Order: sequence, then C-alpha cells, then structure tokens
Amino acid sequence: MTVSVAPNAVAAVSEARLWQRLMEMAEIGGFVSEEGDTGVNRPCLTTLDRTARRLLISWAERIGASVTIDPAGNLFLRLEGEDPSLPPVLTGSHMDSQPQGGRFDGIYGVIAGLEAIEAVATAGIRPKRAIEVVAWTNEEGGRYAPGCTGSMSFADFRPMSDFDDIVDAAGIRYADALAEQMASESDLATRPLGYTPHAYLEAHIEQGPRLEVEGREIGVVSGIQGSRWFTVTIEGRSDHAGTTPLGLRRDAVQDMVRAITALNALMHDPDDVLRFTVASIRVEPDTSNSIARRVVFTIDFRHPDKAVLIERGDAITGVVEAAMTTCTATVHERFHALPVDFGATVPGAVAAAATSQGLSTITMPSGAFHDAQFMVPLCPTGMIFIPCRGGVSHHPAEYAEPVACANGARVLVQALLTLANS
Ligand code: GLV
Ligand code: MN
Ligand code: MN
Repeated sequence: MTVSVAPNAVAAVSEARLWQRLMEMAEIGGFVSEEGDTGVNRPCLTTLDRTARRLLISWAERIGASVTIDPAGNLFLRLEGEDPSLPPVLTGSHMDSQPQGGRFDGIYGVIAGLEAIEAVATAGIRPKRAIEVVAWTNEEGGRYAPGCTGSMSFADFRPMSDFDDIVDAAGIRYADALAEQMASESDLATRPLGYTPHAYLEAHIEQGPRLEVEGREIGVVSGIQGSRWFTVTIEGRSDHAGTTPLGLRRDAVQDMVRAITALNALMHDPDDVLRFTVASIRVEPDTSNSIARRVVFTIDFRHPDKAVLIERGDAITGVVEAAMTTCTATVHERFHALPVDFGATVPGAVAAAATSQGLSTITMPSGAFHDAQFMVPLCPTGMIFIPCRGGVSHHPAEYAEPVACANGARVLVQALLTLANS
C-alpha cells in the first residue's frame, strides 16, 4: 500500500476497534426481526439516542477531543489543530435510525469520523486546522418528519423554529423533545448554532447495490439527488359500511386509491430514474365496518434533475385534487431539497486518498439524502460511500463488511488531513 499523505494516521486506523464500536452502538436500540436479522430502532431525541451519545462522548473524551452541543442538539467532538482560529474541517453523520433500521446507516459515518480523529491523535499528527466530528440531530425523519432538521438548522437552510410544532406518533412536540434532550445534556458545553466549516466530508454506507455489483471498494460521491416530501389529507365522511349505498358515500379510502393511481401515472418514468413512494397511510376511524372519514398519506418524491423535481412535484396538488370524486384533499409540502453537486474539491481529495491506498473507486451520485447536502452552500463538501451487502438499507439486514468499514475510515482520515492542512 502506497500512501502519499499521512501514512501513520492511515495505518493507525483500527478495523477491530471500529467494528467493535459499531457493534456496541448497535446494541442501543438493537432488536431481532421476524426474519432473524439484527436491526436497530433508535429514534432521535429519545433515551436510546442519549445513551448512544453518552457512549460516543466517553470514547471521544479518552482521546482528548472536546465536546460541545449546539441549540439544535447537534453534538460536536473536536480534535484541535495547530491554529485554533482557523475554520475546522467537519465530518460526521447521524446516530438516529429508521424504526426498522440497520446497524450502519448514519452511525457508520460518526464512528468512522471518531476513528479518523483517534488515528490522527494516535499518530501524533497535528494538522493545521481542527477536525470536528458531528452527530447531527434527526437525520432520518422517522420520529419527526422531515429529516435533517439538525443540519438544516445549522446551515440556516430553514430556521430551527420551523420544526417546533412537528409532533411524533405520541403527540410529543419536536421542541419539547429537543428541550428534554438539552436539559439532560446540560452538563455539556454549548456553542452557538452554525458556522462556516473549511470543508465537510461524510462517510456512509452506499444504501444501494452499485459498489458491490461493480466490485469497487470506495464510492466517490459526486452529488445528491433532490427530494420533496408531501402529506396528503383526504376528508370524507364516516358512515355505516353495511347500510350506506355507494352513491351516498364520501369514502376517503376510495378517493385515496384514485389519487395514488393518478400519481403513479404522473410519476411514470420508463428510464426508472424517478423515485416515487407512498409508504405511510393513516386511516380514521380505522375500523372495518365504518367508512373512512379521513386518510393522511405521505409522498416521498426524488429526482436528480432539478427541472423534473420542480415540474412533477408542483403538479402533485392538481393531480390529487382532480382525482377526488366525493372528498376534498389538501396537500402540504414539508421537505424540499434541490439536487446538489459536490464539485471537485472534496471528491478530488477522496479519490486521491483512495487511489493512493490502492482502493478501487467509482464516482457516483447518491439516491438517498444526507446531511451533507445542506453543507453545500457553506463550504466544499463531499461524501465517501462504502459497499453494503445486496445494497440493502433501511432494513434490519443492512450489513457492511468490517474491511469495507475500515477502508472507508482510512480514506476518510487521509482526505480529512489533506483538507485540514489546506
Ligand atoms: C435518508 O434516510 C433517506 O431517506 O434518503
Ligand atoms: Mn443515513
Ligand atoms: Mn437513512
């Protein structure tokens, strides 16, 4: 292995330590699925999330990193550089999971970031700039939709107060859950919300099959496709299922079926680039012998082309309204993130690091959204993907090989040092 930059730090990455930490974290919220897979259910701003954060902090303190939190609950671990006055290089990801999530989505980028600063500290290297590892609040959007509320607040993409009144399934407001977390972490030093990093680099599992299928070790991520999230509420009237003639019904489920059929036509894409998903449906009163008076369903719509994202996304409301026969529909957009391009700086540092370590790469866009996309307006940004088995993610069977995890951390530390010395 030839390494042109920081060979000692690259060599100090420990595959065993990284793996052991990932597995230890996976116990916090860990469960075994019906199929026998070991998954993770660790919603943001819960006791489980806080337990995971404390474990991370305990590891960070052992290597002399300083710990701070910002008003959005984002957690920062800082390894000081030669010149503390310079903007740091930022790395990290998220620690929350999907309700039926895996052991790698998000947490891998945080643990790989910690491994990177531990390797730098162990190698006795002091880069020009500090390196900070961040654990962003609520990336997944599983408990509080939309996701990425921590990074969006940090980057001033949306004001923090926009999220205050979002409620979880139990009716708990986001602002209250965040306040509870801030209170329980009141022993930690605080910092103001947001700053302009020198660069941002996030490591993540690919969450798709390309690296595995093409037999490559590292994905150099070129950008992230755009996403728009909507909730559709259809209002009808509840009536007796046994007695009400069809012609007199205002059945919210029947109009929902028409709306989804019309949306499938709107979103038809013979090239299979467009992503359109309806995955959460709430029916009221939710009983088999009363006609549904209300249905609320979600739309997750993604596309790499901004024009398509805007045109088809903007058509959703009209298509849903036109599909109604007896009910009324309202469409609310709750997340709108345009596609981003990472440019050359950070992907270049990632590609150079991987190549110098003898690792094979492909340059690829991300289909999943990530906190990284909100850093693009702030600073040069990029991501490192590692392969995951079968491309499976947002599923308990999600798996990345220990060697793949270590490869990603080695590329991460080298690219971070390149950026931190620039
Ligand atoms: C992130 O979890 C996504 O849904 O892309
Ligand atoms: Mn993720
Ligand atoms: Mn995810």
